[in-house]
Amino acid sequence: MKYSSGLAQVRLGLAALMLLWMFSSAEAQCQRREVELRDDWTFRRIDGEKDDVAKLVADKSKWQPVSIPHDWAIDGPFDKEIDKQMVAIEQNGEKVPTEKTGRSGSLPWIGKGLYHTTFTVPENCGRAVLNFDGVMSRPVVYVNGKEAGRWMYGYTPFNLDVTALVNKDGRPNTLEVQAENVEQSSRWYPGAGIYRPVTLVTTSSVAVEQWGVALNTISVDTLSRKAFVGIEVKLAGRPEDVKVKCTLLPHCGDDVVAAVEGTPFADGVARLYASVENVSLWSPEKPALYDLKVDVFGADDDALLDTKVITTGIRTVEVSADKGFILNGIRREIKGVCLHHDLGILGAAINKAALARQLKLLKAMGCDAIRTSHNMPSQWQMDLCDSLGLMVMAESFDEWKMAKCKNGYHVFYDEWVERDLRNLVLSNRHHPGVVMWSIGNEIPEQGATVGARMTKRMQDLVHGYDPTRPVTAGMDRITSAIATGYAQVLDVPGMNYRTNLYDEAYKKLSQGFVLGSETASTVSSRGVYKFPVTRYKSKMYDDGQCSSYDLEACSWSNIPDDDWQMQEDRPWLIGEFVWTGFDYLGEPTPYDVYWPSRSSYFGILDLAGLPKDRYFLYRSHWNKTAHTVHLLPHWNWNGMEGKDVPVYCYTDCDEAELFLNGKSLGRRAKDKSVLSDRFRLHWDSVKYEPGELKVVAYGGDGAIIAEDVVRTSGEPYAIKLVADRGTGSALRDYGQMEPNTNPALFEQGGYLDADGRDMAFVTAVVVDKDGNPCPTADNRLSVNVSGYGSFKGICNGDATSLEVFTRPAMKTFNGQLVIGVKTSTKAGEIKVKVSGNGLRKGEVKLISR
Ligand code: GAL
Repeated sequence: MKYSSGLAQVRLGLAALMLLWMFSSAEAQCQRREVELRDDWTFRRIDGEKDDVAKLVADKSKWQPVSIPHDWAIDGPFDKEIDKQMVAIEQNGEKVPTEKTGRSGSLPWIGKGLYHTTFTVPENCGRAVLNFDGVMSRPVVYVNGKEAGRWMYGYTPFNLDVTALVNKDGRPNTLEVQAENVEQSSRWYPGAGIYRPVTLVTTSSVAVEQWGVALNTISVDTLSRKAFVGIEVKLAGRPEDVKVKCTLLPHCGDDVVAAVEGTPFADGVARLYASVENVSLWSPEKPALYDLKVDVFGADDDALLDTKVITTGIRTVEVSADKGFILNGIRREIKGVCLHHDLGILGAAINKAALARQLKLLKAMGCDAIRTSHNMPSQWQMDLCDSLGLMVMAESFDEWKMAKCKNGYHVFYDEWVERDLRNLVLSNRHHPGVVMWSIGNEIPEQGATVGARMTKRMQDLVHGYDPTRPVTAGMDRITSAIATGYAQVLDVPGMNYRTNLYDEAYKKLSQGFVLGSETASTVSSRGVYKFPVTRYKSKMYDDGQCSSYDLEACSWSNIPDDDWQMQEDRPWLIGEFVWTGFDYLGEPTPYDVYWPSRSSYFGILDLAGLPKDRYFLYRSHWNKTAHTVHLLPHWNWNGMEGKDVPVYCYTDCDEAELFLNGKSLGRRAKDKSVLSDRFRLHWDSVKYEPGELKVVAYGGDGAIIAEDVVRTSGEPYAIKLVADRGTGSALRDYGQMEPNTNPALFEQGGYLDADGRDMAFVTAVVVDKDGNPCPTADNRLSVNVSGYGSFKGICNGDATSLEVFTRPAMKTFNGQLVIGVKTSTKAGEIKVKVSGNGLRKGEVKLISR
């Protein structure tokens, strides 16, 4: 069976960044249009002003043009006073309040802002809905001067039916969105304003609800490659005498794989079932997707009322006492990372290219899952996880009724929790990548008598909307959570850190498995190495940095090796989510009281997206399809001649040999019986002499697998630029990297989209005359972008830097920084030129089309 007519048009619409579903039908009413309201917005801060929207809009003086997604705080400046707080951070075990700075990023996110735009709806429009994917925070929405609705939690996606407020005669409508952030409402940088997309959906009066389509995999027979799926379609309006037809096709394909039809029940929901032959299951290794096209017909078969297409997937998820976590019938251990929502230079304002870059870098490391900590994900991110093949723990809250922050979510809990949870589940349940829901992170109620009851209620609520996925929560007070019954209620008991309590939890809980819902919290600064090389807890140095030997953690946390040892020795552990994949703005632990320091040290990659050494440690353990060999530290230790400089090698190989200036310093092999030798190879007393340090890694049969080399560099001489995408060369993916490649210096080639928002990330490296990276260089670089694109931001990954991201000049941090370049809506060449005092200029050409 073939279906072709509508889908070609769908793809056209997607390319134009405007979802416009058109289907030929003589009696078609208002055709569904899903239009992203992206440009032609204006914005102004309204701190201290009266909430008189009409008057504020009339005053033309203070408005600036913006496009959405937008984060009003990311331009800075960084300021210690912004989030200075006298607090005791309870989860860090503090009892006495002390002055904390940088905790929420020290950017101007607190206050009020107002957005304004206009839009029109088709003259025969039966229903108009505004979909907000998230507004930070407390958004109040006005259409034509009247309040259309409001929300509180800044991470929740929500829909507002504005049919009654819009002009249906073709006249433009005004739209204002007010956002307000109050102090001490977040433990990290939340961003500010309309930081995720806004979509206007117009349809006929009877139409599929915005999040009305779900596809559940009921069963899969892997032998016969047959799946049985349930489809749910919820209609808005008064769906009497209507018929719903569902057609399932491979994503962007034409061959119909299943087609069913039925009528909705009195609740407006049609529940249908279908068999799918030759099914392609979704998995991280092979993320097969399907398009589910839903047509709604009136009594007369010719009257097509609505068509909606969702992209989804078929796969099963289970947890069980004997097998643990099971995807498509196969047990697997989750190799996940936690991600905060900010994107470094862009702040909280999301961007598909920036999201994709993060996820691809993680996948290349061998990561197969993310946890959206500690809040609801964006749709764009979930779409990317589906298509790239990443599983997701979609989280909701960092607080329930008991406070962590003075003005945190507890203020809204009673009134909003049900609506927030509902929207999380309904907006995301069609994503095959989402494999579990999390109802909270380190919720203080885990230690209270009400905790178990609240957990039960919230878990049941989630199951009511989605009975197919397990529910978890990250627990940090394990003993109390077991004593109160909180831990027993959860489908998946998630433990944050406290590996010493894993065994006790496993014994006392009947689930039969435990998830490391948050692990490691190792701290490091890219390219910084401190001596002596020892395991430390909460270690601080005068320069506000942490050592990259990956042996430093917090009082409550540990190093990657501790987690892996537990996992290898305990088959009932179902995996982990490392804190965190990337550094994020805010929470500069261990430097909570040190200034300047305004972003985290936890990331496996830094805030600029440059890999720290830890990237290669995780890659060596997680990536089973490619070899890794990585040497550290750098080899520029002027003044340390003849002294010991420990050398580490992160590799999946069991054995390696180190050479300094051609002389062997011995072969080392991994030793399972000693933790420090189990996952890393190291030579602790290498007497420093400048030159070339080389490691050769061997396979089991003694054959050479790969090598890595670091060289003592000369003086800074030139700037080398490497763009991650868009250079016009043949497409390559990270899977093609050599075992010793730094992914920040790997060019994927291809072209950028001339859509005014696609981005390339250009890594600038200061090199010596011979092209060796200068690992301690701190040259100030200036950026010039010309042609069909513009400068978007710059970041060097230094948590102590107060240089803003949105001005085109910055010092390198340990010899590197990253520049974000955005395309324009005209296709053509984009030239990126980077200069620095006395250095030979760097230049790279990007091409958009
Ligand atoms: C955890 C918490 C995270 C982050 C982390 C830092 O306890 O869940 O949000 O604060 O500690 O180690």
